[in-house]
Amino acid sequence: MGMKRERVVIIIPTYNESGNVGRLLSILNTAVFPKLEKHYDMQVLVVDDSSPDGTADEVKQQQKNDSSIHLLLNKTKRGLGGAYTKGMWEAIDRLGADIVFEFDADLSHDPEKIAPMLLKLAEGNDMVLGSRYIAGGSIPENWGWHRKFFSIFGNLTIRIILTNFSIHDWTTGYRAIRTEVVRKILPTLDQEKFMGYTFQIGFLHHALRAGYKVAEVPFHFKDRTLGKSKLGSEYIKNTLRYILKVRVKEISQKRLFRFVVVGGVGAMVQLVSLQIFRIFVSYLWAEFLSIEAAIASNFVWSNLWTFSDRKLSGSELPVKFIQFNLTSAGSIVIQLLVAFAGERFIGLYELFRLPLVGISVDTGILFAVVGILLGMFWNFFAYSKIIWRIKGK
Ligand code: GDD
Ligand code: MN
Repeated sequence: MGMKRERVVIIIPTYNESGNVGRLLSILNTAVFPKLEKHYDMQVLVVDDSSPDGTADEVKQQQKNDSSIHLLLNKTKRGLGGAYTKGMWEAIDRLGADIVFEFDADLSHDPEKIAPMLLKLAEGNDMVLGSRYIAGGSIPENWGWHRKFFSIFGNLTIRIILTNFSIHDWTTGYRAIRTEVVRKILPTLDQEKFMGYTFQIGFLHHALRAGYKVAEVPFHFKDRTLGKSKLGSEYIKNTLRYILKVRVKEISQKRLFRFVVVGGVGAMVQLVSLQIFRIFVSYLWAEFLSIEAAIASNFVWSNLWTFSDRKLSGSELPVKFIQFNLTSAGSIVIQLLVAFAGERFIGLYELFRLPLVGISVDTGILFAVVGILLGMFWNFFAYSKIIWRIKGK
């Protein structure tokens, strides 16, 4: 067939991996690549941060008998994310990669899974994760309980906080990625924040949010036999900070959340301004003015924040504000109707008494709560479909 072989670059970040990287490179070149070369042009890019143990020399030794091995030497150690960022651009710009892999140098990642991961990409996925947490995958038996705990519990926490359960291994460092995804996602990642291991979660989360298709292939993670892990305790702190920040931001961008906050602010404006107005005018006038103050607050904040994407301006404001008053009156009418119907058809009687404080809770309170909820429902409907309706609809 006349189809062009896609170029695959396996990116291997290294820091003090002598003894490991040489072995890995010869396994790839003798046992793994020959089976793939028919369909893919297989290349390797080692990104070494000038490891003091001579890792780079070991790579150079391998380069002598293999032109598919490339080496990118950084002058300073800048973390896993820093190494991948540089390596990915090098793979794209200088080596012309169509697909890149993230791959550890310490023989933890089973290279036999490169083929099934490439297959998943060929089936139409944009990114494929080597996963330890789906059937057929595992973490090492001999890991200490704390490393096991952090890995399992960490992944669970990430899944819960980001409320995305389709991905089982968020932190895996074994990945196949189409370079379109890299070109699109890397520029959106703040270099400074993703220098370390948090790069993995940040990259995956951005890719999912951009709508890329991500699949998983199981593998057994093998513990390294030489050298030690560079994963530090900052990882947990940074990860937690990242996922919480993302979640809070996502929630605060939800219109319903903003609507509820603006309503709460309105209620406070009403109560505070009531007390202030009472100093100057009679109670009923103060009531009236404070309700109007709350409505004005709701109008202004809804326009600036809740519906900032459909902001009203200039000449439409007066008319819309009158409409807004009418729809707000609608919510009061709804509350009165619920109270009226409740008293009429269900009646007023005590439901229970709160222990300790001894306050009686009766059906009257229940009607008020139902009225408020229905009123809010009406308001939200009126705001989105009438006051701030999408133009042209
Ligand atoms: N160039 C460079 N610079 N390479 C680095 C650096 C760095 O600052 N830090 C780590 N590496 C390299 C290591 O040499 C190794 O090849 C690879 O990145 C993974 O590092 P390890 O130190 O072996 O990490 P690990 O085994 O603890 O963590 C693995 O599992 C994590 C999930 O539990 C990795 O696969 C992580 O990516 C993964 O998040
Ligand atoms: Mn490792």
